Formats: sequence, C-alpha cells, structure tokens
Amino acid sequence: MIVLGIETTCDETAAAVVERQADGRGRILSNIVLSQTDAHAAFGGVVPEIAARAHVEVLDGIVAEALGQAGVSLDRVDAIAAAAGPGLIGGVIVGLTTAKAIAMVENKPLIAVNHLEAHALTARLTDATPFPYCLFLASGGHTQILAVRGVGDYVRIATTMDDAIGEAFDKTAKLLGLGYPGGPQVEKEAAHGNPSRFALPRPMQHRKEADFSFSGLKTALRLEAEAVAPLSDGDVADLCASFQQAVVDVVYDRLRAGLRIFRAQHGAPSALVVAGGVAANQAIRIVLQTLAGEEKMPLVAPPPELCTDNGAMIAWAGAERLALGLTDTLDVAPKARWPLDEVAAARGRKLNTAAYK
Ligand code: KG4
Ligand code: ZN
Repeated sequence: MIVLGIETTCDETAAAVVERQADGRGRILSNIVLSQTDAHAAFGGVVPEIAARAHVEVLDGIVAEALGQAGVSLDRVDAIAAAAGPGLIGGVIVGLTTAKAIAMVENKPLIAVNHLEAHALTARLTDATPFPYCLFLASGGHTQILAVRGVGDYVRIATTMDDAIGEAFDKTAKLLGLGYPGGPQVEKEAAHGNPSRFALPRPMQHRKEADFSFSGLKTALRLEAEAVAPLSDGDVADLCASFQQAVVDVVYDRLRAGLRIFRAQHGAPSALVVAGGVAANQAIRIVLQTLAGEEKMPLVAPPPELCTDNGAMIAWAGAERLALGLTDTLDVAPKARWPLDEVAAARGRKLNTAAYK
C-alpha cells in the first residue's frame, strides 16, 4: 500500500510518499522537507504565525513535488495521512485541512497521525523493529521514555519535570549567542571544546524512577557563563562541551533506569530505539550505543534526516494504521496537545481471511 504523508506541526513543511510492502517492510518513494529556519532565525525561535503562513504558501508545491519525485499519481495512493498534532495549532490546521481536501476530492481514506507516534514508529520503517521496544523520544518539545508495545499501544515510563532536552540545547545556544536551531550549533562548538572545564550537575542521576530534569543544569551553566563573561570563542566551545557532556551522562543514567523499569513492567525489549531531533546528536548516539551494548540489545537510531521532522514518518505511521484498518473521518479535529499515551489503541482484530478457505 502507498500513503502520502504531510507534516506541518512546527517549522518544517514536509510531504512524502511511502510504500508498506506485504511483508510489513517500508520503502520511502520520496521525502521532501522544506525547513523554515531562515524565516525564524532573526527571532531566535519559531514564531507560530510566521510558521502557519509559510506552510500555507508552500505546502501545495511540496505535496506536488513529493508525488512527482515518487512517480506516483494520486489515484495510486491508498490513503492521505497528516500530522494532526501535537504542535503549533496554526500549522497543524494547514496540514490537516490540506490532507482532508485531497482525501475528499480523491475519495481516499484520511489518517490523522499523532506526530509523536510517527517519531515512535520510524524504527519500523527503517529497521522493521519488532514490538515491544524501548523508545527514547528526544525532541524540541518532548523527552520521554516509552514502551512501544504495538501500533496505538504506548506506555510512558518517564518524562521531563521541566524543559525538553532539545529545548535545553536551544536555550543554551541562545544564551551563548549561537544561532537557531541550537542543538546542531551546540554540538558543533562542543566538538572543539573541553568537556571537563566546567563542573556542571547531572540532575536526577542515580534515582530509581527514570524521569529527567534540565533546569538545574541550565542554571549552573548560566552561572558559569556569567562568571567568565565576556566570552571568548574558547569559552563558548568549553561551555558547550561541558553542557553536552552533562546531557550525555544524564541520558545514559536515565535510560539505564528506564530499561530497568521496562523489563519489570513489559518484559525484554527487542531494541533500544531513539527518535526525535536530538537523536541527530552524535555524542548522544554514541552513549546510547554503549548502553545498548551493555544491556545486550540492538540500538536502532534512524538516520538523522529521519530523526528530525519529516513527511516520511507521517506517511509510515499512516500506513501502519491503515494496515490495521484504523482510518479517520473528515471531521477529525487538529490538536495542539495530544500526549502519546492518549492515542487510541488499535482496537478490534483483523480478519484472517487467508486461513478461512
Ligand atoms: O523532532 P524535532 O525536529 O522537532 C520537534 O521538536 O518535534 O526536534 C527539534 C529539536 C530542536 O530542539 C533541536 O535543537 C534539536 O532537536 N536538535 C539537536 C540536534 N539536531 C536537532 N539537539 C542536539 N544535537 C543535535 N545535533
Ligand atoms: Zn518532531
């Protein structure tokens, strides 16, 4: 089956065409992402109104490009999927309304995808990872450890008490006068800095529950930066390296606690999976690889371009839902807030007609 996916929840306008083969494996036929970074850079963050207008201006063209590059016309598409939240509501409305219009005109099923569910299922597109697996969802808006037990069956094991992990990177970049988005900039600076120059805390370390907190780390970093200001290039690199090292240590410790909880509640996971924009960070990928090795399970880390927001993950989540007969009606509402553990579970059973002969 072939699904068109549309993503407009934040500052990427994206569309993709993905095929789900009969054996359940995925194939990306096209994946077009237009980042609005330049439009927001001057403001040091995403401006919702600018984002929504930009989505309106370019989405039609992006969808046409995705179909064109895939060499697929709309009549060969089996369903239209769009991210229906969570995210900036103006953008979500643009993407979902466009998907509804296409679905109505072409008389195809509509699938309203949870953006977090799409991140969560990407490992099955890239690696056909079997359920259940332990997911570390690390993005600009979320920091969660989840048990992914099936399509629509997500149990939250841990979350953040304050900032999301990507948000902590972004705010650190802003404090130090680096560009937006901050994560990649902090990583670039950290590469030539000294990670042990500044002694920063590792919040929540050694706690039995697996939750995260970043506010204490941010405060400590700000105080260190204020103490050495005005900052030289070397100071900025050392602050970034020290910050990133603290985050890496926290990720290792919290995921170890999370895996312990996973085993106790859900049995052995098939893999440790990482998703979301922060999963593009090489230092974080390396520490997760170390942890997965120690825990004797594979690490599934999709390529960076499938970790950050994209249309392929929406199309794939749509295909996984379509395969289970989970489609939506045209009156489905866009949602600014939509926690993953509130996504409707895959109810009912599929008919096994092959065996009924
Ligand atoms: O998943 P995503 O593209 O958007 C959502 O938040 O849903 O994640 C974006 C976040 C931003 O906070 C960005 O700074 C962070 O991911 N990020 C990174 C890196 N690349 C993106 N953080 C650390 N290191 C990176 N290389
Ligand atoms: Zn995202």
